[in-house]
Amino acid sequence: MSKVPTQSQINLDWPKKDFSRVPYEVFTDPQVYALENERIFQADVWNYLAHEVELAHAGDFVTNWVGSAHVVVTRDKDQSISAFENSCAHRGAQLVTQVRGNMLKVACPYHLWTYSLKGDLMGVPMAQGINGKGGMPPTFDKAQHGLRKLQVKVHAGLIFGSFSSNPPDLHEFLGPHSLSQIDRLLVQRKPKVLGYLRQRIPGNWKLYNENVRDPYHGSLLHQFQVSFGLQQPTMKGGIKLDADLKNTWNHSILSESDKEQQKWVEKAYEGTGKYNPNMKMADPALTQVPLDLGDGYKTTILSIFPTLIIAQVDNTYAIRHLRPKGPDLVELHITYLGFEGDTPQQTYEKLLTANFIGPSGYISLEDGEALRLVQEGIKSRAPGTHEVLEMGGVGAIEDTDYLSQEISIRGFWSHYHKIMGF
Ligand code: FES
Ligand SMILES: [Fe+2]
Repeated sequence: MSKVPTQSQINLDWPKKDFSRVPYEVFTDPQVYALENERIFQADVWNYLAHEVELAHAGDFVTNWVGSAHVVVTRDKDQSISAFENSCAHRGAQLVTQVRGNMLKVACPYHLWTYSLKGDLMGVPMAQGINGKGGMPPTFDKAQHGLRKLQVKVHAGLIFGSFSSNPPDLHEFLGPHSLSQIDRLLVQRKPKVLGYLRQRIPGNWKLYNENVRDPYHGSLLHQFQVSFGLQQPTMKGGIKLDADLKNTWNHSILSESDKEQQKWVEKAYEGTGKYNPNMKMADPALTQVPLDLGDGYKTTILSIFPTLIIAQVDNTYAIRHLRPKGPDLVELHITYLGFEGDTPQQTYEKLLTANFIGPSGYISLEDGEALRLVQEGIKSRAPGTHEVLEMGGVGAIEDTDYLSQEISIRGFWSHYHKIMGF
């Protein structure tokens, strides 16, 4: 990793403190990227690591990324969950190379130092030397050479980790809207994993944070959504922010008037090429799956700083996690969820509607492409030029009861600006 610059070496021109302007360098500058690792991922935030159902048995483990750090998350025999950096305390070798699995202990392949599932150093081969010669010095204390651990907290099955020695209270960090939606989506029914997808998007990780906080683009970019009435700008819905403005819950709700409003949509989209009433699917089953929560929410997108998204899009329930891979590349890891007690038909329908999301999803395909287009387009932008975020109004950053807005994106930037110390 490049050397972390001091703040004074990074000269960003951030003119409006309502964050309706954002300098493009935040998406392109390697120095900003390096500083993010220190100020965000190694600092006072909670990072999503895994869901508890992935660690059902003692010895189960999964790996994930916290900024540039590769981490291992384990369940021990006493049922406790631990997380530590995937780098040996001896000479730094990567310890675990599988994405997930089960193990009795952590053994480094290089010189076979072994660690407990909590990351404590247990064994050093040849520590006493051979035939009375060599070995580790008497001053060597195994207790001082464990793996670098993260603090771990679990809420509603979601496992979070922090490298901070003094992380914020997790419930406060999540905020009231996240807590109630997590309860609605992940607690009222016990989740199970239906499968995983990974997608590499050639764009900065914060562009994805903007994208999921931006219902404005939903009916404009996504022809599929608007043509089949899944999302339209007249829908009821809005956004709610937490006290730090960093986390957004945006939601749209089905209502009686949607069909009527469709006529307005036809008119509004005339000549744009986006709305085609004659477009039909050979098999429309995908668009006809009934909402199984029965509460009318068509989409619920929880965007939790810095890299977690919990989303319900129709009947697709997924945990999306961002893994930054440099200023201009992000890996999006998606965990698709079903629920204990789902009938085979309900599971089938969830797998069917999973086609909305992911690298070739009817909806998500365009989001990946939109990010690529932005990253490509801003390459030639001069320092001191900015994106414009004025849809829905400027000034105060507050909840809205309408969808076409960029206020929640300004909320993200206000927190980012603060935590980065700009
Ligand atoms: S690098 Fe791990 S035991 Fe030597
Ligand atoms: Fe989108």
